Amino acid sequence: MSIHTEKIAKKVTVDTIRKMKGKEPITMVTAYDALFAKLFDGSVEMILVGDSLNMSFSGKPDTLSANMELMIYHTKAVCMGAKLPLIVLDMPFGSYTSKQLAIKNSIRAYRETDAQAVKIEGGAERAEIIKTLTDSSVAVMGHIGLMPQFVRSEGGYKVRGKDAQDVEKLIADAKAIEAAGAFAIVVEGVKAEAAKAITDAVSIPTIGIGAGADTDGQVLVWSDMFGFFEDFKPKFVKRYLEGGKLIRDALGDFVDDVKSRKFPSDEFTY
Ligand code: KIV
Repeated sequence: MSIHTEKIAKKVTVDTIRKMKGKEPITMVTAYDALFAKLFDGSVEMILVGDSLNMSFSGKPDTLSANMELMIYHTKAVCMGAKLPLIVLDMPFGSYTSKQLAIKNSIRAYRETDAQAVKIEGGAERAEIIKTLTDSSVAVMGHIGLMPQFVRSEGGYKVRGKDAQDVEKLIADAKAIEAAGAFAIVVEGVKAEAAKAITDAVSIPTIGIGAGADTDGQVLVWSDMFGFFEDFKPKFVKRYLEGGKLIRDALGDFVDDVKSRKFPSDEFTY
């Protein structure tokens, strides 16, 4: 039973998130459909329609084959289910490789869905693209550290911020993203001390995942945190529910009932 009973009463905006830095930890979860988005409505400040859906929803080995059609389809569903959180559409791999493409695809995201912001992976090298978007009134969330869209080019998922040089690079990335006008930055798979240094170096909120306790907020992938995705469990994932087990047990009860002709009983019969 949650002790955090205070529900969010008003629509969360980019401005709400900006103002939360240094005041109250920010919560974000992913969602990919209306059903779960509705369950999350009013409890978290932000919902990310993450391209992680390519793995946990579509069963692919990584996020790279997600495309704009897929992200728009799922974002539309999430926007149908959740009315209060700020909804962020994760720009898929290859959808922002130039300023022109980034503008075209993010305007499409705004026109075809009710998402309030887009998320882009990459550090200082993406700053110009982020600036082009924010100058065109598209709200951008950055994403630095371990970036799943770089899994093939980097040769795996690697924790960042292990030495002073890398910490310096991450801080420079965060500052460049802030200067480009982003309203928040996801910091993923970064040593806790490095994530704290990044958080202290910028005036926009950092949202951590596998980045320790000192970021301005935390995000988890819903299917990881509720135990529905069971292929592997990264160290940073806390399971708040054993969803997979609950479903299997309940399904087993259904199968037993049908096989033994207990279901449907009179109660469930016209
Ligand atoms: O795609 C996603 O779900 C993400 C989170 C891990 C931040 O980018």
